[in-house]
Amino acid sequence: MKTLLVTGGAGFIGSHFVRHILGKYPEYRVVNLDALKYAGNLDNLLDVADDPRYRFVHGDIADAPLVEQLLREYQVSAVVNFAAETHVDRSLLDAGGFILTDVHGTYVLLEAARRAGVERFLQVGTDEVYGHVEVGSTDELSPLTPRSPYSASKAGGDLMVLAYHTSYGLPVVITRASNNLGPNQYPEKFIPLFVTNAIDDEPLPLYGDGMQVRDWLYVVDHCEALDLVLHQGQVGEVYNVGGGNEKVNMEVAHRVLDTLGKSKELIKHVADRPGHDRRYSLDCAKLHALGWRPRHDFETALDLTLRWYVENEWWWRKIKTGEYMEYYRQQYQARLEGVRG
Ligand code: DAU
Repeated sequence: MKTLLVTGGAGFIGSHFVRHILGKYPEYRVVNLDALKYAGNLDNLLDVADDPRYRFVHGDIADAPLVEQLLREYQVSAVVNFAAETHVDRSLLDAGGFILTDVHGTYVLLEAARRAGVERFLQVGTDEVYGHVEVGSTDELSPLTPRSPYSASKAGGDLMVLAYHTSYGLPVVITRASNNLGPNQYPEKFIPLFVTNAIDDEPLPLYGDGMQVRDWLYVVDHCEALDLVLHQGQVGEVYNVGGGNEKVNMEVAHRVLDTLGKSKELIKHVADRPGHDRRYSLDCAKLHALGWRPRHDFETALDLTLRWYVENEWWWRKIKTGEYMEYYRQQYQARLEGVRG
């Protein structure tokens, strides 16, 4: 029996990964450590909650005694770190929490993993650490030039992970993925925000000219890549994980509205995100050489995602209240009022 400590396993990507591991490896046990901050949601894991190979622990990765106790008590063989503050717009409102979790929290985990002698430490990262890419694509040796407090924090975490490999020989691997889409994504992010607003005939706040480019990756494909890197990635190495689906935001917004049968007039061009990265693009040759390819093209991934949000209003309607609405007003009210016509 191998035990994985999955941190942030109640979040969007983490919860898909927990399900993937329990489904694929009958001999694995998963301990999910999650602080259940605003985007952590146990509804994401209702289907595995009673699995005897699954344990949920409510706590923070920055709590060193707790992390050390879990590694010892469960004889953890590998740590997979999803726990992070992840939303660029929130990092522009308040960077401090990003540094605490994405940099300091990562350090606490690394230190505990080193003392416990874990066999693997997988840091789940983002392509945003490379900064925006005007032409061509970034590979794993491209310089890190993060431009938002979020991406700077993630870059700091990544560098600490690599330092623990160089300095102490901790067997680390890092992945850097492009934009994910799929079920269970918190509706502050572009696609679930636009889908749920469109369902309710609310405006879709498109930043700037809407011609920014993102590379979309279906969350299930991402989890398969993480599994591969966890088991077969070379220690001390970084692997880019891109969906190979570069789309301009406007095109994605149109496709959402077309599929839901809603008017394009719902799109409102609003004031841009400060420092908005224009484009990301990943060179994934290194991961392809390990044998991974995404199994879902963008159209299929978006259709599956849309269908899930249409069929699971119980999941997102209760999120779009309280704290969410407060954030939504802070982020969008003035922007939407500034829209003419
Ligand atoms: O590239 C990987 C990253 O993708 C992850 O590391 C981040 O955690 C994740 O949030 C995502 O970052 P983005 O900033 O690209 O994602 P977001 O969903 O916030 O925005 C996607 C694009 O849509 C971006 O160009 C901004 C635009 N956008 C977003 C929102 C929320 C809008 O036009 N309007 C919006 O209201």
